[in-house]
Amino acid sequence: MRNFLAAAALAAGCLLSGCGSHRLRMNSEQPVTRPDQMVSFESLYGKNCSACHGSSGQGGPALDLNNPVLQQLLDDSSLRRAIQDGVAGTLMPAFGESAGGMLTDAQVDALVKGMRARWATAGTMRTAAQMPPETTTLIGNASHGEQLYQMDCRSCHGGARQQVTDPTYLALVSDPALRTILIAGRPDLGHPDWQTVAQGHAASDQDVTDVVAYLASLRSMTPGQPYAAQPQGEQPTATEAAANQPTTAKRKQSTGQATESFKTEK
Ligand code: HEC
Ligand code: HEC
Repeated sequence: MRNFLAAAALAAGCLLSGCGSHRLRMNSEQPVTRPDQMVSFESLYGKNCSACHGSSGQGGPALDLNNPVLQQLLDDSSLRRAIQDGVAGTLMPAFGESAGGMLTDAQVDALVKGMRARWATAGTMRTAAQMPPETTTLIGNASHGEQLYQMDCRSCHGGARQQVTDPTYLALVSDPALRTILIAGRPDLGHPDWQTVAQGHAASDQDVTDVVAYLASLRSMTPGQPYAAQPQGEQPTATEAAANQPTTAKRKQSTGQATESFKTEK
């Protein structure tokens, strides 16, 4: 009985002074969270994404994720797919466990929800024109696309920014990526979203599809091969060809096949 009382007193003392929780706190001063249990947006984003997309979704080497038009263009499942599977043919890696990455489904969800809460600012969209969808089933008309390009793009891309129609630039960027740029804009680069670009002109799904078809028609199938387009009889000398070899091979690997795998992996 005396023992029981002593134990009870001790327990009550602990309850009042909080000695148990104090000990707990001491132990968890340096909480060890297993990497796959971490679901805080800040740490997930900071560890996995900010190096390329910038610390608060802007100003990194890859596109701004805090662009509200981009957040509106991509729905939850597109965001989840981009994070889980990456974007084939680009530097966007696959993070999902299912694709050999490190992030669990719950962590991918936390990233999607966190981006939405922070960067999908409601009310920033003008509603004058219907936003074209992320993907389309329409067939592009390249010659109408060229007319639109002359009207809407040349004013900015005619001079020093001609590289948008450069066959080699186009070999580095897939059609879906062009479509995303055209609709959502690239505020980080200073390229406006589709509504601003097409001020006063139509900017329908068909128009965007046509401009992409026009740009795609200019894409080089042999990027980095300076002699590909030359007429017969002006072939490079053996030395020139050898000098060009490594670059050509490298480019082919990172670009030509990019579009291929984009199609097959999806
Ligand atoms: C090594 C650099 C790199 C890292 C790290 C990276 N990204 Fe990306 N990400 C890119 C590039 C490059 C693109 C553009 C792909 C393209 O041109 O379509 C991109 C595109 C995206 C897109 C748009 C996809 C689309 O359909 O247009 C989203 C969303 C995205 N990244 C989210 C993330 C998130 C979230 C993380 C962290 C878990 C992350 N990225 C980490 C390079 C990176
Ligand atoms: C108000 C000026 C302006 C207009 C109009 C404009 N752009 Fe741009 N665009 C820019 C700027 C600035 C950049 C940043 C890259 C640069 O400086 O070359 C850019 C970048 C781009 C890029 C990405 C290049 C990259 O480095 O990845 C593409 C693709 C593009 N524009 C296509 C178009 C197309 C197609 C149109 C017409 C539908 C258009 N732009 C209209 C200013 C403009």
